[in-house]
Amino acid sequence: MASSPVTDRLWRHFTPAGATARPIVIERGEGCYIWDTEGNRYLDALAALYCVNIGYGPYPEIAEAAREQIERLPFFTNWVGFATPPALELTEKLTELVPIDVGRIFFVSGGSEAVEAALKVARQYHRLRGEPTRYKFITRRSAYHGTTMGAISINGSPALRAQFEPLVPGCLRAPLPYRYRCPYCSDEPACTLRCADEVDDIIRNEDPQTVAAVIMEPMQNSGGSIGPPPGYFQRIREICDAHGVLLVADEVICGFGRVGEWFGSTKYGIEPDLMTMAKGLTSAYAPLGALVASEKVVEPFFKEPKSMFIHGITFGGHPLSCAIALANLEVFEREDLIGHVQRHQDEWKAELNRFAGDHPMVGEVRGDGFFYSLELVKDKATKETFTPEERDELIKQFIVPRARELGVYMRVDDRAETAAQFSPPLVAGREEFDEFLGVLKQLLDEAWEQNVLGRSPATV
Ligand SMILES: Cc1ncc(COP(=O)(O)O)c(C=O)c1O
Repeated sequence: MASSPVTDRLWRHFTPAGATARPIVIERGEGCYIWDTEGNRYLDALAALYCVNIGYGPYPEIAEAAREQIERLPFFTNWVGFATPPALELTEKLTELVPIDVGRIFFVSGGSEAVEAALKVARQYHRLRGEPTRYKFITRRSAYHGTTMGAISINGSPALRAQFEPLVPGCLRAPLPYRYRCPYCSDEPACTLRCADEVDDIIRNEDPQTVAAVIMEPMQNSGGSIGPPPGYFQRIREICDAHGVLLVADEVICGFGRVGEWFGSTKYGIEPDLMTMAKGLTSAYAPLGALVASEKVVEPFFKEPKSMFIHGITFGGHPLSCAIALANLEVFEREDLIGHVQRHQDEWKAELNRFAGDHPMVGEVRGDGFFYSLELVKDKATKETFTPEERDELIKQFIVPRARELGVYMRVDDRAETAAQFSPPLVAGREEFDEFLGVLKQLLDEAWEQNVLGRSPATV
């Protein structure tokens, strides 16, 4: 392959102006590894962005499925009464996999668009049922649901929203089930579900007749793999039912094996009315997202011959992406990737916990499946956390670049507290896990022993 041109004109996503250095240009992948144009190899401990679930292959059958589809029909639309064979076949396949009674599946191009479609379905659903005053959405603090205008409006991170006010009105946020620092019950022997009851309080306080939907990730990424305590989603379901509010499971990360089942809803016994998905649906081999709507939700949309969901995306359900999604799901099944995750998850979690127990900088390990976060602290006994400046210094100036030097691409999430993450392709095995843990140990040992905080990167 010809070497890539040197240009500053590529507007890199979420990249600060200060990052003037040339991008790291990734040109090749295999298994759980990626290579840059300088020939450096990195273990991908994040499945790119929690999305290359089957790893980088090679999978000649996926290339073949893509080639066949392009030769047969490069594109046609799912609009105005049309469909394509891969979109129909994928609809049936997803219907088999999701743990809800499927009414309809609406394809889009990615996660933000799936969330956007969920918000619009929820509002139109209530209007069609004669409740046009229901327009508000409840999500959770620090949650990330994408960056389009609706999706950013429901995000829980003030820093992501601030530049784009005024946003979609009526977006409210509930507390997280975050036992490590829970203001309600971290001192109690078990979670009291006060955080779930807060959703009830918010709905009552707003007037239930104004609330359209509650949107939650089964295990929330932002904040560091925040999973549900026992009974949490059952309680949320009861609250939604009591107030006539729809429940949306944002499965964009949790879906397709990440937490050790096909979906987070399967794993945690959630009964959502709507499910958003993207990322692992194609393992990112092509852009695709989907909104799965239950029978209950679609019922009012099909009551009158003239009614319809007033929404469309040109590339939603692109036949190439759907053909690739089908080939991706075949790989999942043939390689028994869900079984593979299940066979490793307990052992890995136990090892991460042992590591955390021994390390002065790790406050807690959270997660399931192949989706772990290690919350980093300044003082384990007091759970003291970092100031924003210290956090920048620790993460951006030390851990992330040093991890790259040591051959690991990883993320330290800092949208709430500080959490080092391990979310590799689902084909990762013992070797990759050991490599990650070895590098993480080295990083944290160096950070601790050399007292990174307060030093300039040149001195570490
Ligand atoms: C839970 C969740 N929802 C939605 C999105 C938005 O997806 P996309 O970046 O494909 O638009 C993301 C992206 O990371 C996500 O993590």
